[in-house]
Amino acid sequence: MEFHVKSGSPEKQRSACVVIGVFEPRKLSPVGEHLDQVSDGYISNILRRGDLEGKAGQVLLLHNVPNTLCDRVLLIGCGKEREFSETQYKRIISKAISTLNDTGSMEAVCFLSELNVKGRDTHWKVKHAVEATQSSLYTFDQLKSKTDTARRPLRKLVFNVTTRRDLTLGEQAICEGLAVSEGIKLAKDLANMPPNICHPTYLAEQAEKIASDFEKVTYSALEEADMIELGMGAFMAVAQGSEQPAKLIILEYKGGEEGESPVTLVGKGLTFDSGGISIKPSEAMDEMKYDMGGAASVFGAFLAVAKLDLPINLVMAVAAAENMPDGRACRPGDVVTSMSGQTIEILNTDAEGRLVLCDTLTYVEKFNPDVVIDVATLTGACVIALGAHASGLLSNHNPLAHDLLNAGETADDRAWRLPLWDEYQEQLNTNFADMANIGGRPAGTITAACFLSRYAKKYQWAHLDIAGTAWKGGKDKGATGRPVSMLTQYIIDRAQSKSAKES
Ligand code: BES
Ligand code: MN
Ligand code: ZN
Repeated sequence: MEFHVKSGSPEKQRSACVVIGVFEPRKLSPVGEHLDQVSDGYISNILRRGDLEGKAGQVLLLHNVPNTLCDRVLLIGCGKEREFSETQYKRIISKAISTLNDTGSMEAVCFLSELNVKGRDTHWKVKHAVEATQSSLYTFDQLKSKTDTARRPLRKLVFNVTTRRDLTLGEQAICEGLAVSEGIKLAKDLANMPPNICHPTYLAEQAEKIASDFEKVTYSALEEADMIELGMGAFMAVAQGSEQPAKLIILEYKGGEEGESPVTLVGKGLTFDSGGISIKPSEAMDEMKYDMGGAASVFGAFLAVAKLDLPINLVMAVAAAENMPDGRACRPGDVVTSMSGQTIEILNTDAEGRLVLCDTLTYVEKFNPDVVIDVATLTGACVIALGAHASGLLSNHNPLAHDLLNAGETADDRAWRLPLWDEYQEQLNTNFADMANIGGRPAGTITAACFLSRYAKKYQWAHLDIAGTAWKGGKDKGATGRPVSMLTQYIIDRAQSKSAKES
């Protein structure tokens, strides 16, 4: 898909289609008004007849609009103007894209980017228009033997901006939107890939590919033998029940100065979580292929940062393993020693994410990280607490937590913070080791984070629980690519405030 920005009048576009917004009730947007005047009231006449009320998601395709150079005018209902939100903006863009695709316009000039979204500038609107477009065009059909592609698919989209001064801003926004979209696509592809194909070795190969595409990126990985040697008894307890060898996959991006402490992203990469000996019920167990959603999102954010060539150092560490029941699998009651030296009683083998993550959190100390952010589909409790709209955020450092919350707002990929008070730590007490790997039913998301916090004392750390946000179930089952946008935005913001300080 090709994107451009332009600043022009709607009637002068020699295009297959011009896209215009209509608010409820039958209220044309400013460009819409202009087009109506030029066409001697042609559009308002049609609206008056009741063909389009302007309700969100309504569409009306017009042909031969007088005094215009385009083949078609597509009217998109935007809902009530007062209620026009960020989410609404993205929804109507998606609606426009699917309609254009269905009606055979291979290129279009879209004026929806001129609509007023409260508190958002041209950069935001163009960037999110690109993201919404790319994400509504996403399909995962590489494993279908036949695919149905649109006969005349949309190929080129031009977003109009109000003034010529906004053109450079708009182009920059397209670049950012495209980079983030590629990151989201990678995250979705990895997460949707079935667990018989997407195993730890597959993830390692994908990382190697990224390294070969960018000069500033290097790949390395720990094999199981390395983990044993480093004393990663927690990670290995999860890995030992699977035929698939576990990997700790590392990508390093050097866009900043030599020796500058990196941002470090850690991802939970359980390519399948059966629960192990504490086996899960079979209903919807297939969805546990998404238990590498955290890994997928740090891959995606890493790719976006490398594409944007940002002036920072970044490390990605993916804890990749498969959790299976087996004669060699760990059992409830086993006590293992983590790389940090702390001992863990495994009371439930289904609380495996924290076991692979804790050793990874210890391992990344060697990068001397400035901040560490881990991303994990860690607890079912987080789905109960926050549902599908917000990721759970827990952190030992308030400024880092605030920066992530802000990045989530800007990216429209939000998180909500939960407390990490000491009082919750007691729930991990056991008579037989330094800690248990479960803390009982109350506050399950918090006690999981409490467990991780014991391995993250040496740096500023934040944990994102994406159990409710990483994928959708049901008819539209599929990965969401979250929180690639939030993470990338956090790093963009960081790079910007760094260069602001320097100049
Ligand atoms: N991967 C799951 C968490 C999960 C469950 C995410 C459902 C999304 C949907 C994790 O490994 C797990 O099984 N957690 C247990 C922890 C419990 C045993 C303390 C859970 O949440 O039930
Ligand atoms: Mn589990
Ligand atoms: Zn899991």
